[in-house]
Amino acid sequence: MHPLVNIAIAAARKAGDLAVRNLERVDQLQVARKSRNDFASEVDRAAEVAIIDMIRKAYPDHAILAEESGQSGKSEVIWIIDPIDGTTNFLHRLPHFAVSIGVEVRGRLEHAVVYAPCTQDLYVASRGAGAQLNNRRIRVSQRRDLDTALIGTGIPINPANLDDYLPMLKAIAGLTAGLRRAGSASLDLAYVATGRLDAFWELGLKPWDMAAGLLLVQEAGGIVTDIAGNDAPLYKGNILASTPKIHQRLLVALADATNHQSR
Ligand code: IPD
Ligand code: CA
Ligand code: CA
Repeated sequence: MHPLVNIAIAAARKAGDLAVRNLERVDQLQVARKSRNDFASEVDRAAEVAIIDMIRKAYPDHAILAEESGQSGKSEVIWIIDPIDGTTNFLHRLPHFAVSIGVEVRGRLEHAVVYAPCTQDLYVASRGAGAQLNNRRIRVSQRRDLDTALIGTGIPINPANLDDYLPMLKAIAGLTAGLRRAGSASLDLAYVATGRLDAFWELGLKPWDMAAGLLLVQEAGGIVTDIAGNDAPLYKGNILASTPKIHQRLLVALADATNHQSR
């Protein structure tokens, strides 16, 4: 395994263990409200510090882009970190959240680790080397038909984005077998990579929500674009990730919903 991946795994496990140890005392945690429906607890911050400490010890010159502390350092290697992706779930003791760590080298995602500490599921990918769940190769589903497809999504946490989102929800719900809103974008993407979900789309995401999951889906044989069909959506704020055979039809449905809305 690549040395960067070993550090990412160790850091993700450490942060994930910290979250699990605090799960039964979430009611006592100090929680800051960053904006409406966007929270960060002292455990989010402590988990991020633990991850960054571990990276800095091994790679003091690398740059960091992390949800709670922002950007630091300048390097061709950037670690993109979400210490707890699914904070609202965590704060409600819903055991569905993950630590997400992606590594970008010269502007290209090279390594991905998503760790779900409540199930101890570890998703890992490196560019060109495939994607694994707990050391076993994973692949996206082989689904061809939309009407049997199960689609993950995120309902915007910022209600201002709902007007853009609701026509899309209506369109995709009408075409597919069902929708799931599980509350952790990185895990949603990991589920697309394992074929549990056939696709996932969300608006209003940050790079740390998507970085690791995006590479997992690509390395599992899936297609990842923004919702307009452009490649490399990491810094674009929205994403459509899916098994290849249904991607184009989902793009058309999302575009139709958007055009219909603006008419
Ligand atoms: C959130 C989760 C959620 C998604 C939100 C994200 P956080 O991340 O990924 O599923 O719908 O858009 O902000 O705040 O729990 O790290
Ligand atoms: Ca997140
Ligand atoms: Ca987070």
